[in-house]
Amino acid sequence: MKTIYLFPTVIFFSVTLVPVVYAGGDAEQGKEVFKKCKMCHTIKEDGKHKFGPNLFGTFGHSAGTNKKDANKKYEKYSRGLKNYGEKGNMWCEENLNRFLKSPKREAKAKMPFNLREEEDRKNVVAYLKENSNNTAACEKRSI
Ligand code: HEC
Repeated sequence: MKTIYLFPTVIFFSVTLVPVVYAGGDAEQGKEVFKKCKMCHTIKEDGKHKFGPNLFGTFGHSAGTNKKDANKKYEKYSRGLKNYGEKGNMWCEENLNRFLKSPKREAKAKMPFNLREEEDRKNVVAYLKENSNNTAACEKRSI
């Protein structure tokens, strides 16, 4: 009998925990935080690449790739970030949060910047999410 009751409990936790952990990311405040990123990134759809790649649609997209047509590709991805994407990593809340804390530890990436404050990371991730039309990919994955 015990196993029968355990099953709904597991479902309950896996469905509720993810939104609880990531509640509170505020895209409006994230826009403010993103000012720090603008030195190296644009986020407008069809924005150009700077030192870092354009970030429109990055949320819900494979890491180390971008959706631009072949002649507009970002050419400067590091081997580390490409490998990270080739392993099947897609950018969603959890790994973006870890990446922004330490790009090197999360993806062996060569992004010379990080955000120490958890609050800033959550807010800027919410802003990245808002600037993507592929967020459903992450929702499917986390349930
Ligand atoms: C000093 C320049 C610089 C700053 C500031 C910077 N980045 Fe980056 N970012 C880069 C570079 C360069 C890469 C590519 C790294 C690689 O290939 O290893 C990158 C990669 C990324 C990626 C992965 C993109 C992909 O297509 O996989 C994300 C997401 C990202 N940055 C988000 C941010 C956010 C959010 C901020 C601000 C909080 C920020 N970055 C600030 C230079 C920067």
